Amino acid sequence: MARPGRDPYLAGVSLSVDRLAAAAQRALDLAWAKAGATAPNPPVGCVLLGGDGQVLAEAAHERAGSAHAEAAAIAMCRAAGSLDLARAAVVTLEPCSHVGRTPPCADALLATGIKLILIGAPDPHPRAPGQGFEMLQDAGLRVLPFSALDHPAAGRLARSAARLIEPFASAVIRGRPFVTLKTALTSKGSMVPPSGQKTFTSEMSLAHAHTLRRRADAILTGSGCILADDPAFTVRRVPDHPAKRRILAILDRRRRVPDAYFADARARGLEPRRYAGLEAALKDLGAAGALEVLVEAGPTLRRAVLKSGVWDEEVIFQQAISPGAADETRMVRRDGAAPFDDFAHYNLELA
Ligand SMILES: NC(=O)c1ccc[n+]([C@@H]2O[C@H](COP(=O)([O-])OP(=O)(O)OC[C@H]3O[C@@H](n4cnc5c(N)ncnc54)[C@H](OP(=O)(O)O)[C@@H]3O)[C@@H](O)[C@H]2O)c1
Repeated sequence: MARPGRDPYLAGVSLSVDRLAAAAQRALDLAWAKAGATAPNPPVGCVLLGGDGQVLAEAAHERAGSAHAEAAAIAMCRAAGSLDLARAAVVTLEPCSHVGRTPPCADALLATGIKLILIGAPDPHPRAPGQGFEMLQDAGLRVLPFSALDHPAAGRLARSAARLIEPFASAVIRGRPFVTLKTALTSKGSMVPPSGQKTFTSEMSLAHAHTLRRRADAILTGSGCILADDPAFTVRRVPDHPAKRRILAILDRRRRVPDAYFADARARGLEPRRYAGLEAALKDLGAAGALEVLVEAGPTLRRAVLKSGVWDEEVIFQQAISPGAADETRMVRRDGAAPFDDFAHYNLELA
């Protein structure tokens, strides 16, 4: 495949690979900032560039029902009177080719003077595999994945785009949300806090954990955790998405969690639901449109989730042995793949 930096046609519009890589990073930043806000739609970011690589517009899909990222960026350009200058669209996800709640983005892009589309990840939805890609290519546009950029960051950009879309892919392909476990361990490896304490990890780890909560559409916990800690399960240490309402899935076969806890959780903006089993909970959360579920439970439910095989990723915060030293953060994936651990970049910006 021709590399954009060496391609005479692209050189004709003076788009340097550095500019394209920077636009891809920006589109990813915009999209990651909306992870947790868009369900049942995926988070998507888009940057439109002029022929000299100047940024004309940048946008993200804000929430279900609002404009797709490409349509929003095109509308911004149109409003600014700069749409005629647009030559490249850099988008984290393959533009849609179907009519949904909004018209197809591939059509909207074709109606502009854009000649190059750089795409982070293919649309995983089984309804139209590769159609957006083909539609744009058949119309004579150059369509390239982030991985084809002849740039040192190409691999990382492509991995970020692939990981960004995983929760949506899980929802549309497997019919269940992406499941992330968040586990805090003492320096001795126990999940149980020292007596009289609810938490024991550093401020930084706690803020990081809240970024995982912010990203989730639902939190899944066990009765043991609630009875021991009376946890709030709200996003407090980083700004939350405006008006976000998360489901709080409580596994509580013996119905030990009191009604008062449910009422208090509702008052905190959560939607608590009681379940008798893990499978039923995930099925219901999938039906509710949740893309990502964060498991925040004690050791009993954590073990059950790990054993069941219905988890995808675990983020472990382990308290440092020497006081004042930084906690250790580890990420593990069930499929054994190397985790995309550049979340620090997004997490720490929010914290
Ligand atoms: N370090 C951490 O990351 C962390 C996080 C949260 C809590 N904690 C600590 O964990 C301790 C509580 O531990 P825990 O193990 O009792 O809490 P848990 O794992 O949150 O809750 C366990 C309970 O969940 C219910 N449950 C329902 N379905 C289940 C299933 N399929 N498999 C397993 N359990 C299911 C069971 O009660 P039923 O049989 O009635 O359904 C079980 O007793 C507290 O000390 C708390 O501070 C630590």
